[in-house]
Amino acid sequence: MKHKLVFATNNRHKIEEVKALLEGIGGTLAEKYDIVSLSDIGCHDDIPETADTFVGNARQKAYYVKEHYGYDCFADDSGLEVEALGMEPGVRSARYASEAGHDHEANNTKLLRNLEGVTNRKAQFRTVICLLLDGAEHIFEGICPGRITTERSGNRGFGYDPVFCPEGYDVTFADMPLEFKNSLSHRSKACAELVKFLNKNN
Ligand code: IMP
Repeated sequence: MKHKLVFATNNRHKIEEVKALLEGIGGTLAEKYDIVSLSDIGCHDDIPETADTFVGNARQKAYYVKEHYGYDCFADDSGLEVEALGMEPGVRSARYASEAGHDHEANNTKLLRNLEGVTNRKAQFRTVICLLLDGAEHIFEGICPGRITTERSGNRGFGYDPVFCPEGYDVTFADMPLEFKNSLSHRSKACAELVKFLNKNN
């Protein structure tokens, strides 16, 4: 019987990305683990995310699922860190411009305004994953370094993609085809670490 592993998200895209990674390495992990979403286990709760670090939020979500639903699981938390802004917006990335959150346009406007005249444009996306498996906790991280542009470019992706240029490229994430962005992204790097671990433990 497969080991049910809950990914503490209802974002279909994230679930598919992780499943594709699991299947991409010979199919052995896909045979062992059944990756399911929160709605697959009947969880429609508004899971608290009130910590002030990515690790804290990822742990909070993973332990919530384990404690309330009993399943082994993993949870992720991501955001943008800008050096000249003291690594802000960080855990407040989604809510940078307004507490209501997810107003990507307003977030980008605020970010570009706060960096007006600033020459240090260094920034990075970070993803942390907390895995709870067989009674133990494991933390994985992925970082995508880059810089913040002076104006928006591109219409793909989401969030800060139109103002983030990954290191080694002169175009933004929003200029790139999604599969190419995903291959460079913080999320895929953290997922790759998780998959490497599961593979080793297999
Ligand atoms: P989440 O933890 O993956 O939901 O990400 C939180 C917030 O960080 C998002 O709402 C975005 O503002 C920002 N963010 C995370 N990953 C990305 C990305 O790949 N591109 C652009 N923005 C991102």
